[in-house]
Amino acid sequence: MDPSSAYINLLKKMLTDYHRVGLKEYKPLYHYPNLLVKPLLLLDKILRIKNLAISEVNNTTIEKRVNGLDKPAYADTMMGMKRLDNLEYCIRDIIKNDIEGDFIELGVWRGGSTILMRALLKELNITNRYVWVADSFEGLPKPDLINYPADKGDKHSQFGELTVSMDEVKHNFEKYGLLDEQVKFLKGWFKDTLPAAPIKKLAILRLDGDMYESTMDGLVNLYPKLSKGGYVIVDDWGAVPACKQAVKDYRNQHSIIEEIKEIDWTGVYWIKEN
Ligand SMILES: C[S@@+](CC[C@H](N)C(=O)[O-])C[C@H]1O[C@@H](n2cnc3c(N)ncnc32)[C@H](O)[C@@H]1O
Repeated sequence: MDPSSAYINLLKKMLTDYHRVGLKEYKPLYHYPNLLVKPLLLLDKILRIKNLAISEVNNTTIEKRVNGLDKPAYADTMMGMKRLDNLEYCIRDIIKNDIEGDFIELGVWRGGSTILMRALLKELNITNRYVWVADSFEGLPKPDLINYPADKGDKHSQFGELTVSMDEVKHNFEKYGLLDEQVKFLKGWFKDTLPAAPIKKLAILRLDGDMYESTMDGLVNLYPKLSKGGYVIVDDWGAVPACKQAVKDYRNQHSIIEEIKEIDWTGVYWIKEN
């Protein structure tokens, strides 16, 4: 891989909030599927009238930020440095080998990894590829058990922390001077936005939607658009069994046998060969 530049190294540190590691982080009290939190949320609402709030303390460590083990209070991604390094590696390899296509992430949260995608295009002077930023910007869907029984018991839709608005993500791109016409937003549920998305070819398909349904929607609609030599990256392979199941089912249905390579405790990828 071509060596990382000072700009990209610094950006990755900003995106993961490395410079604040070791300090206590204070996160707002989000909705959790937890009875204890309900009365606290009510109290929090009252306190906010006086500019006070109840917070959850998040103790950060380098290990957590390297491996993407926590949901940070302020960082623009929860991916961790190893998965950002992997994304950079894949993009540099694609550009070096002239693999055709745009880059997409399905499930962007605060936008961090798509910000890195755009920054790498800028650094490498690439003006003919887009970065697609696909999300509901309203969190995760409720499980659809008729079509996706593997999502039974999934509680992601109840975690308010996973809801980040499109305006907030756009603002995050702007913070780094990277919001422009090479960034395209696909707002809505993947099942609605992906079938008609005006994407011609992809070189990176990054799946980070946690659930079976979200992972399967991404593969069904976009794997056929991935170029030979392009990368599929699955963020939740190790973290969410239903996501791993969706990937295994899709691979079996389409006789995909390319080797799955490990990034860290949860992330994996493979290169499309056929
Ligand atoms: C774990 S977060 C993504 C983390 C992010 N990639 C990062 O770098 O920190 C999951 C995201 O997927 C989105 N999402 C999951 N399933 C979805 C679906 N079916 N349609 C649209 N958005 C979905 C959620 O709104 C949320 O922003």
